[in-house]
Amino acid sequence: MDRQTEIKLIQEIIGLAEQKSTFLDETIAHSPISRYSSPERFEREQAMIFRRKPVVAAHSSELVGKNSFIARDFIGLPLLLTRNEAGDVNAFLNVCRHRGAKVERSVTGCKRVFTCPYHGWSWTNQGDLRGVTQEAQGFPDLARAERGLRRLPCAEAHGFIWIIANPDAADIPNIDQWLGGLADDFNWLELDKHKIMALETKTIKANWKVLFEGGLEAYHFRIAHKDTIAPYFPDNLLTYRQFETHMRAVLPRISMPELHKIPQENWAIRQDANLLYTLVPNVQMLVQQDHVMLFHYEPLSFNETRVRMATLAHRDEPQTEEKQAYWDKNQRITVTALMEDFVLGEEVQAGFASKGNPSHLFGRFEGALNRFNLVVEELIAT
Ligand code: FES
Ligand SMILES: [Fe+2]
Repeated sequence: MDRQTEIKLIQEIIGLAEQKSTFLDETIAHSPISRYSSPERFEREQAMIFRRKPVVAAHSSELVGKNSFIARDFIGLPLLLTRNEAGDVNAFLNVCRHRGAKVERSVTGCKRVFTCPYHGWSWTNQGDLRGVTQEAQGFPDLARAERGLRRLPCAEAHGFIWIIANPDAADIPNIDQWLGGLADDFNWLELDKHKIMALETKTIKANWKVLFEGGLEAYHFRIAHKDTIAPYFPDNLLTYRQFETHMRAVLPRISMPELHKIPQENWAIRQDANLLYTLVPNVQMLVQQDHVMLFHYEPLSFNETRVRMATLAHRDEPQTEEKQAYWDKNQRITVTALMEDFVLGEEVQAGFASKGNPSHLFGRFEGALNRFNLVVEELIAT
C-alpha cells in the first residue's frame, strides 16, 4: 500500500466517523438462499472456480527447506507439494502411476525420492519416474516420460503456494495479475517474509460463502461480539474496495477517528485499523498491528467447510518462548471471536433447511457481501 492510499483510507474513515456514517452502497440487495444450500450449486462452484482458478494450497512456511514435502487431501484431491533442491515448489497428485496407490503416506517431511508402498515404483521430488521394480520383465516397453507424477500448475507468491487444482490445466496465471492490484499491499506487508507461528483447524457446518460473509461487515460487531472484540471497534464503521475478484476492507479501531488530532506524518493504518483481505475463493487475511491472521478455507460440501486458522508473523521476530506465548495468546483471542461468527454461521446454515427465507437481505452497509456474491456468480457463469 502506498503512503497516499494509506492517508486517503484513514481520511475516509475519519470523515465517515464525523458524519456518524459508514461506507454505503447505493441500494440494498437480496441473496437467494440457493447460493448456500444447493448441492448442485456447490458442484458448479467446485468445477468453475475451485478447479479452474488459482487457489491457495498451503502457506510457504509449511514447506520449509530443500526437499521438504507436504502430502494432504485438499478440495477433494490427494496433493503432494514438494520443494526441490533449488527451492522451487512443485504440486502433484499423490497417486501412483502404476495402479493408483497413495505414493506418500506421511503428512510432511523431507525426501528427494518418493516410493510407492504397493509395488515400489519411485519418483523424484520433481515428479520424474526414477525406478520401476522388475521393469525389464514386467514392463519391457514402458514409456517412462509418460509416467511422471501428474502435475498441477503451481506458483509461489506472497508467502503462499497457489495451484490450479486440475491436472488437465495447462498453466497457472501470473499471481500478481490474478490479485488485481493487491500485490502492492502484499509487498508492503512483506507477506513473503511471514511464517506460521500458531495453527489450528476446525470443520464448520456452514457453506464457505456464509463464512466469508461473516468478515465483510462491521454491522454485527456490537451485538455478536459484545463479550469479546466489540469494545475495540466503533459501531458499524468500515470501508472496502474491490480489486477485481478480491477485496480489501478497513476495519478501524476506536482510535482511528481521533487521528485528526495528531500530525498526518504520524498516521499508520496498521496501528489503528485491521485490514481484511478477501482472496476469492479460499483465503481471508486479517492484518493486525504486528501479525496477520490467515483463514484458509476448504469447502467440503455445500454445508461444510474446513478452516485452517493461523497466526502469521514476520520471520525476523525473535524465536523465544515468551514471544511464542504471545502469538499463542493472540491466536486464542482471535479464534475465540471467530468462533462467535462460526457458531452464527452454523445456525444460519441450519436455518436454510426451513426454507423460511427465500433470500437474505444485505443492507447498504453490507454491500461488500453483495459484491462478493456477484463475483462468485460471475465466475460460475463464465
Ligand atoms: S500401485 Fe504403486 S507401484 Fe504399484
Ligand atoms: Fe465477526
